[in-house]
Amino acid sequence: MLNYPIHIGPDAPLALGKAMEELGPSAVLVIADDNTFLSCYPRLRQHLPDHEIEVIRSGEQHKHLQTCEQIWARMTALSLDRKAVVVNLGGGVIGDLGGFVASTYKRGIRFVQVPTTLLSQVDASVGGKLGVDFRGFKNHIGVFADPQGVYIDPAFLETLSDRELYSGFAEVIKHHLIADQEGWLRLQQIEDLRKENLAAMIEHSVAIKSHIVEKDPFEQGARKSLNFGHTFGHALESEWLERSSPFLHGEAIAAGMVMEAYMSLRRGLIYPKDYREIKQLIDRFYPEIPIHSADNESLLSRMDNDKKNEHGATLCTLLDGIGFFMVNAALSREEILDTFQHYREEYGLD
Ligand SMILES: NC(=O)c1ccc[n+]([C@@H]2O[C@H](COP(=O)([O-])OP(=O)(O)OC[C@H]3O[C@@H](n4cnc5c(N)ncnc54)[C@H](O)[C@@H]3O)[C@@H](O)[C@H]2O)c1
Repeated sequence: MLNYPIHIGPDAPLALGKAMEELGPSAVLVIADDNTFLSCYPRLRQHLPDHEIEVIRSGEQHKHLQTCEQIWARMTALSLDRKAVVVNLGGGVIGDLGGFVASTYKRGIRFVQVPTTLLSQVDASVGGKLGVDFRGFKNHIGVFADPQGVYIDPAFLETLSDRELYSGFAEVIKHHLIADQEGWLRLQQIEDLRKENLAAMIEHSVAIKSHIVEKDPFEQGARKSLNFGHTFGHALESEWLERSSPFLHGEAIAAGMVMEAYMSLRRGLIYPKDYREIKQLIDRFYPEIPIHSADNESLLSRMDNDKKNEHGATLCTLLDGIGFFMVNAALSREEILDTFQHYREEYGLD
């Protein structure tokens, strides 16, 4: 069991209201972004005690230290003391950034997560990894700190765009590939996410993630399985973040999973049929990422500085059969370049 409650269901806002009474905060600061302020805050506000709200600009482009400074300045102006509680109302960006801000303000104050995207409901809100991007590197500055609770109302997903919904589904795919062989067969039948029982899907993914995090909260071993797709995926995400049309986190991770599944195939850890099935499901829902040979060096250098690396080696989580994984696979430059090349050939890129 994780040592904080996770409520999933339509009564989550009500449960949050009760929990806030028990926490007895000296003050409450809600952190939202411009979309969650409009779409989610009206649903939540009636359940909260008196509070202030800080609205930041939405998107990964704002997940950086300047936004933290903006919030720390507001907290200071409000004279928040160490008994205050922060409510993070939003997707993974708000959860990661708001949690980081709270857990560093005056050496750490309490916070709760109210995730509002599928990605944050199935993955980012659970596990206590918090942080921001820095100089082109994903989640480069951050801490581990647990929230007081996670309150997941699937109804928030009604206002989420389809593109964002499918971005979150990439983490659901990941959870199945690393930990649920049987569920993987069912997952491949999905044609339209809006017709699925999303509450059940969230519960299942949260159960998988919680189980892994309980065993290894500080990512010394098994928790690295959750990085499947992320060694290549983070390099792609941060590379395209600096261009005019970035890819969403889940879209980059989906492409990263195709690449890391190929790497698993190349090392004889999965069958060609497994690789084909993974690529087929991902191709159904996600755009390919148009990498060209001219992008090789920049992507390689981003991977060189990935925080998962140790002693100078680029480390990656691979599949070891569907539903199983192998952590700490050291990747050579040749293997990485071959994987880029294979991806380009698969999608008819130059
Ligand atoms: N901490 C972790 O363990 C962990 C795990 C996975 C991903 N992440 C991080 O999560 C981030 C991605 O999260 P995300 O995909 O939720 O991105 P996000 O927070 O940027 O949200 C996506 C978009 O949806 C909008 N939005 C949010 N909820 C909405 C709603 N209910 N209705 C309408 N619009 C809504 C947001 O304003 C934003 O524009 C990345 O930074 C990634 O690194 C963290």
